[in-house]
Amino acid sequence: MTANTRTDANGVDLDDVGTNPTANPSFTDLIASRLSRRHLFGLGVGTAGTALLQACGGGSGGGSAFPILPPAPAPAPAPAPVPAPSPMKLGFNAVAKSLDDVVTVPAGYTASVLYRLGDPIAAGVAAYKNDGTDDPVTYDRRAGDHHDGMTFFGMNASNKWDAANPSRGLLVMNHEAITPLFLHPKGQTISGTAVAAVRTSTDEVLREFYLHGVSVIEVNKSGNAWSYKQDSSLNRRVHTLTEMTFSGPAAKTDYLKTKYSTDGSKTRGTLNNCANGTTPWGTYLTCEENWAGYFRRITANDDAKRSVKELASFKRYGIGSKNSNGVDTATGRELWATPTPDTSDDLYGRWNTEVLGASAVADYRNGHNTYGWVVEIDPFNPTSTPKKRTALGRFGHEGACLGPVVAGKPLVWYMGDDSRNEYIYKFVSTKNWDAADIGGGIAAGDKYMDDGRLYVAKFNADGTGVWLELKLGVNGITSSNSTYAFADAADVVTNARLAADAAGATKMDRPEWAAVNPKTGDVYVTLTNTNASARPIGSTDAANPRFYNDKKGAADQKGNPNGHIVRFADDNADPTSLSFKWDVYLFGARSTASADVNLSQLTADNDLSSPDGMWFSQAAPGLLWLETDDGAYTDVTNCMLLAALPGKVGDGGAKAITNVDGATTRTQNTFVGKAPGTDGLRRFLVGPKDCEITGIAESGDGRALFVNIQHPGEDTKDVAVPNSHWPDGGTSRPRSATVVITKNDGGLIGL
Ligand code: FEO
Ligand code: CA
Ligand code: CA
Ligand code: CA
Repeated sequence: MTANTRTDANGVDLDDVGTNPTANPSFTDLIASRLSRRHLFGLGVGTAGTALLQACGGGSGGGSAFPILPPAPAPAPAPAPVPAPSPMKLGFNAVAKSLDDVVTVPAGYTASVLYRLGDPIAAGVAAYKNDGTDDPVTYDRRAGDHHDGMTFFGMNASNKWDAANPSRGLLVMNHEAITPLFLHPKGQTISGTAVAAVRTSTDEVLREFYLHGVSVIEVNKSGNAWSYKQDSSLNRRVHTLTEMTFSGPAAKTDYLKTKYSTDGSKTRGTLNNCANGTTPWGTYLTCEENWAGYFRRITANDDAKRSVKELASFKRYGIGSKNSNGVDTATGRELWATPTPDTSDDLYGRWNTEVLGASAVADYRNGHNTYGWVVEIDPFNPTSTPKKRTALGRFGHEGACLGPVVAGKPLVWYMGDDSRNEYIYKFVSTKNWDAADIGGGIAAGDKYMDDGRLYVAKFNADGTGVWLELKLGVNGITSSNSTYAFADAADVVTNARLAADAAGATKMDRPEWAAVNPKTGDVYVTLTNTNASARPIGSTDAANPRFYNDKKGAADQKGNPNGHIVRFADDNADPTSLSFKWDVYLFGARSTASADVNLSQLTADNDLSSPDGMWFSQAAPGLLWLETDDGAYTDVTNCMLLAALPGKVGDGGAKAITNVDGATTRTQNTFVGKAPGTDGLRRFLVGPKDCEITGIAESGDGRALFVNIQHPGEDTKDVAVPNSHWPDGGTSRPRSATVVITKNDGGLIGL
């Protein structure tokens, strides 16, 4: 991510990874399609009579389309009807771009801080001192750092899922990563440099273990004010020490065997939980994104002990690497493997994925394989064991967006792999949805998420696309594949990136969140940005069509530094279809950029860069929220939240873009959605300094919007002089936090 400019000891941006070496399609050499746009989209994606319900990450999990389902048993009653204006109109004045250290919302709205880094979530835990001196053992009962993807689960008086509840619920959120500078008295205590660098304070390391993962907190509305309940019995932290089990094709296979789990059935912890997802039975999905960077693997020690296949897998996932001077760099981003002596249960050594013992069950040589999954958590059962669902593949999971839910039809989740030149995936369940499973918890997950088909997307130059199945024996995924000889179904899901390479998926400009429009079924995926080395001007393609230089002061920013949002409609409005139509809904750009860069004709009221978080309101179907994680436009503005009323796939037309890199000019054909105008896209919130805006959810009635402000002040170099003092002000250290936004007249947010 670009706003997240923290680098490791080797100068590598911790979230700026890209490890796809394949020649998979970029459509450089394809001749522009002569098919007319009308021909492609005249087929229509009409959804009349089609039952649609999706909740993705931020949804209440229920949603306004529930009435179309057959009568469900009691647990999740249909929401009360919420009158959304028809036709919908954005009902606020645009917030101006800003570099101020505040959260700004439109006139008529109030943003209040709800849940900050370190806030206590159990009785008897003291308020957070925010100076790095709190007792490390209390951190399993405090808010984590870097709040990210988030879901509001409405809850009734019996503590059961009640999707439409307007005033009480469980707010479940990810804590993606940490800003160590603010967590300890003076940042991390480290002795030595490069591969000899070691952590010398186990108190600091323990804090960091606990500050990653997921929070479950009970939230309540009293009058017009929302608060979390510190002593709720439902509050829970899931973190890097929490035991989790595996299910699906990779469970109990050699790939997942470690000293901790000699049969490959379990692991400890979840990590770098970025975006999220939901299930129609009322559980939360947390997705493991940049997990690879946490593992230590010094190639000089380990390469000779590894098979050709293991080395190929390490390279593809970026575990163990050398810099341009041939120096090992994979020390693990927080050096968690380094404290000595280790504990009896290997709390530190488990982060070293080198071969050290006599066999795979004597060390953690497979430790890296136990991360990179979608993890299911039942928030209504605080003692339940989270489950890693291996059928959804192992990669840099951004999120898992639930598609339309229709009784008697399979369920589908859309997923991005957020690294440069990675892919877009979908998982389709074998079992058909039965509303009797609502409230079924992890057992319902066993039914729908362990058995299904995993696909990866290929975008064609003519505005069509296909889903390629990742299964042994098809699409080049065979034991005779010359790059990687696939052995079995477990191998395919564990090395899903390699399988997708073999299938010929389309490399994308860093796929972040997916969102499904409940009105049309169209699927949107943010492609946050890429740079010139990952996608030079000669490697643009129809779905990743721009190359330009967005100068920031005197500095060049070449490639696609502002990102775009692709959208597609699975054919026949059927999410199980193996083909789709696509266009580019929106291009990030400065409003002052040239016409071939500012293709969506953004203005001062809605220009943005690096879209990341994205979610459709359930209370106001058709209202889309966009969040940015930007480092390119930050000379002009902090990151932001925008409200949008998008049209549908094919509402624009074919476009020939002129890309320029110095003296090189190149034409790229693509398909561009209708320009939104300020009626269709408007800036709603701007955050404080150095933050990312991410994670979004609404109360069951849509009258409270929960938004996460991640890592304010992150680029601070001197802990004594923080770049940001948000949210506590004064001279305080900054804290990631959830804010809740309400409209002063009690109305729907944004309309
Ligand atoms: Fe964690 Fe892809 O942003
Ligand atoms: Ca990002
Ligand atoms: Ca971030
Ligand atoms: Ca993200």
